[in-house]
Amino acid sequence: MFNFCTCMSFKQEPCSDEERGKDSPVRKRDFKKGIHEIMCINNPPLRVSTSERGDYGDDRVINLDAGDPTMYETYWKKMGKKATMVIPGWRSMSYYSNGRSLCWFLEPDLCQQILRLHRVVGNAITEGRYIVVGNGSSQLILAALYALSSPESSEPTDVVSAVPYYSSYPSMCDYLKTALFKWGGDASKYEKEGSNYIEIVTSPNNPDGSLREPVVNRSGGKLLHDLAYYWPHYTSITAPADFDVALFTASKCTGHAGSRIGWALVKDPEIAMKMVKFIELNTIGVSKDSQLRAARMLSIVSDSCEQFGSTNVSDNRGESFYGFGHRLMTERWCRIRQAVKHGGMFTLPEFPTAYCTFLHQPTESRPAFAWLKCEDEEEDCAGLLRRHKILGRSGVSFGCSPQFVRVSMLDRDDNFDLLVQRISKITAAPNNSERH
Ligand SMILES: Cc1ncc(COP(=O)(O)O)c(C=O)c1O
Repeated sequence: MFNFCTCMSFKQEPCSDEERGKDSPVRKRDFKKGIHEIMCINNPPLRVSTSERGDYGDDRVINLDAGDPTMYETYWKKMGKKATMVIPGWRSMSYYSNGRSLCWFLEPDLCQQILRLHRVVGNAITEGRYIVVGNGSSQLILAALYALSSPESSEPTDVVSAVPYYSSYPSMCDYLKTALFKWGGDASKYEKEGSNYIEIVTSPNNPDGSLREPVVNRSGGKLLHDLAYYWPHYTSITAPADFDVALFTASKCTGHAGSRIGWALVKDPEIAMKMVKFIELNTIGVSKDSQLRAARMLSIVSDSCEQFGSTNVSDNRGESFYGFGHRLMTERWCRIRQAVKHGGMFTLPEFPTAYCTFLHQPTESRPAFAWLKCEDEEEDCAGLLRRHKILGRSGVSFGCSPQFVRVSMLDRDDNFDLLVQRISKITAAPNNSERH
């Protein structure tokens, strides 16, 4: 029904002097802020400036604990009227939507734009799938667990995910103390034979950006694929996702976390119907206003890909949403790696390069989070960052040791600039007087 469009490729922005040279938007922006340029690989050490702006080099705490995608505000501000919606008072008053979807509260406009965006990006098979819309993918995770669990079983179904797993999974599973499912911990250590289980496969993974496959692989198991970050600004699109249940969210796809829109692509109509029932019982559907807004944002993203396709250099004509995201994330990863190298206190994961069918070139992952590891095994990494006025989330929340901490890479420019400045100043022991 839908052809998978292989859109034109972006030119990836390398981290060279030239690219970050005089006329680059990055340099212009940094200059404007009064920050001396933070050079990339093989360049002189970072210099953190005396700033003309009061909020630079200042003392405020930066909260990078959550993956709040405010970085995308600049793109949407540029979209101006195109991305501004007016919804008349009489519109969308009904509980129901007029579509013919199994998901009776799914707005037809949103359905159409979801199908279109997956076709444009090529990151998921939509043929033969039912779309279930949810209040963010958070609600859909619970709906899917409800639908995939085995109510006839005497024991709750174990829900597992490999460490480091998304920190919300354990509490999502257990806070209602349902008899249907319970958190079963690290999928790589799951050994219960003959029991029902659900494995959540998050790829690219939150928090460490790794690309993942199921690890338990036992009969009786069901899979839930959380693909929140399977978009071209974060990772290479290598093939359209083809899973029984795949979850996506506007929060990470366009940055509209506040609209609370997620969607599931579901193969089995019975599972889809159970998910719909769960959402009906919880919230009697999903805000029509939010769905219409999300539909508009998705359509602007698809339009931008069709119009600018491969351009990731902002010129007079503009750039696609993924061009913008890809450019910014590439630049941010370059800067954080440079800062980490300069400080010497932490390490970051390395990512493989893979051919991206959307960008038409090999690209390296640019995850939404930096998963920092303290070189000092004794160190409580989140505590160390806190002493430097950076709030991150401890590795403990992800099933790991406190030697790890996760910080968001998706915050606004000024907070990201402060992050880079501060990380570069946290130097390795024993000369690190700032640690005490
Ligand atoms: C892997 C993953 N899944 C699901 C979610 C929930 O997203 P939302 O409820 O905003 O759609 C997040 C949010 O950070 C996430 O990182």
